[in-house]
Amino acid sequence: MKIGIIGAGNMGGTVARKLVAAGHSVKLAGAKGPDDIREKAEKIGAVPVTSEDAVKDVEVIVLSIPFASIPKVAGLFANVPSEVVVIDTSNYYPQFGTRIPQVEEGKPESVWSSEQLGRPVVKTFNAVLAKTLADGGKASGDAGRLAMPVAGGDQGSKAVARQLVEAAGFDPLDAGELADSWRQQPGTPAYCTELTIKELKTALASAVKDDAPRQRDALMEEFSSAESPPSHETVVARNREVTAPPLNNL
Ligand SMILES: NC(=O)c1ccc[n+]([C@@H]2O[C@H](COP(=O)([O-])OP(=O)(O)OC[C@H]3O[C@@H](n4cnc5c(N)ncnc54)[C@H](OP(=O)(O)O)[C@@H]3O)[C@@H](O)[C@H]2O)c1
Repeated sequence: MKIGIIGAGNMGGTVARKLVAAGHSVKLAGAKGPDDIREKAEKIGAVPVTSEDAVKDVEVIVLSIPFASIPKVAGLFANVPSEVVVIDTSNYYPQFGTRIPQVEEGKPESVWSSEQLGRPVVKTFNAVLAKTLADGGKASGDAGRLAMPVAGGDQGSKAVARQLVEAAGFDPLDAGELADSWRQQPGTPAYCTELTIKELKTALASAVKDDAPRQRDALMEEFSSAESPPSHETVVARNREVTAPPLNNL
C-alpha cells in the first residue's frame, strides 16, 4: 500500500520502519521538512517528504504527532479523497501541552481528532509503546503474540488498519466504534500493558472511564519524578499494576 506518515518521531518513525519492512511504500514527514529527517527516513527505507506531500497520492495516512498539534495539520486534509484511510496514533497527556477542555470533560480523544480533521479516523497503534512496536512483533499464530485495539466507525477503513497492525506483527482486535476508544486511552488496562488478544479483550471490557485520567496522571508523575528514567519493563509492569481492575470485577 502507499502510506504517508505525518510525524517522524519515536512512534511515526517506528510505524514507518515496520510498514516498510512489511513491503509497503512509505513517505515520512516531520515538522521541519524533509532535510531534517532525510538520514532517518533513508535508513528506514522511507521517502522523506513535506507534510503536504505525505497526504498526496496515498491510500493511508498515519498521523503521529503530539495530540494538541492536530489542529495545526487539519488544513492538509482538505483535499484528501474520502476513501483515504486516516489512522490516529495520538494520546492526550495534558502534562505535555495544551489542556483541551472537551477531552478533559470526557470526549474520547480520537473523536476530538476526527472533529479537528473533519473526517473519520481509525484509532490504533496508540496503545503500545514505540519500543513494543519495534521489538514485540511476532508471526501470526506464534504463542504469546501481542495484540492492539483498532477502533473506528468505518468498517472498510478499520479492515485496512487491521491489515497494517497484522503486518507489523500484532493481532488486531476490533475495539468497536470511535466513541468506544476511551477504552484504549492512557490510564486504562489496555494501554501499553503488552497483552495477548484474549487478555486485551478482558482489559477493554474492564476499563472504567472516570478512573483513566487519574491513573494516567499518577503514572506520569511517578515516571517523571523517578531518579532515573524507568526501564521499558518497569513502565509496562507499573501500567499493569496501576490500571488493573479489582479482582472482583473480572
Ligand atoms: N512514543 C511512544 O511510545 C508512543 C506510543 C503510542 C502512541 N504515541 C503517540 O504518537 C504521537 C507521536 O508520539 P512520539 O513519541 O513519536 O512523539 P515525538 O517523538 O515527539 O515525535 C513527534 C513528531 O511529530 C512531528 N510534528 C510535530 N508537530 C508537527 C506538525 N505540526 N506537522 C508535522 N509534524 C509534526 C515532530 O517533528 P519535529 O521533530 O520536526 O518537531 C516529530 O517528528 C503522540 O500523539 C503520542 O502520544 C507515542
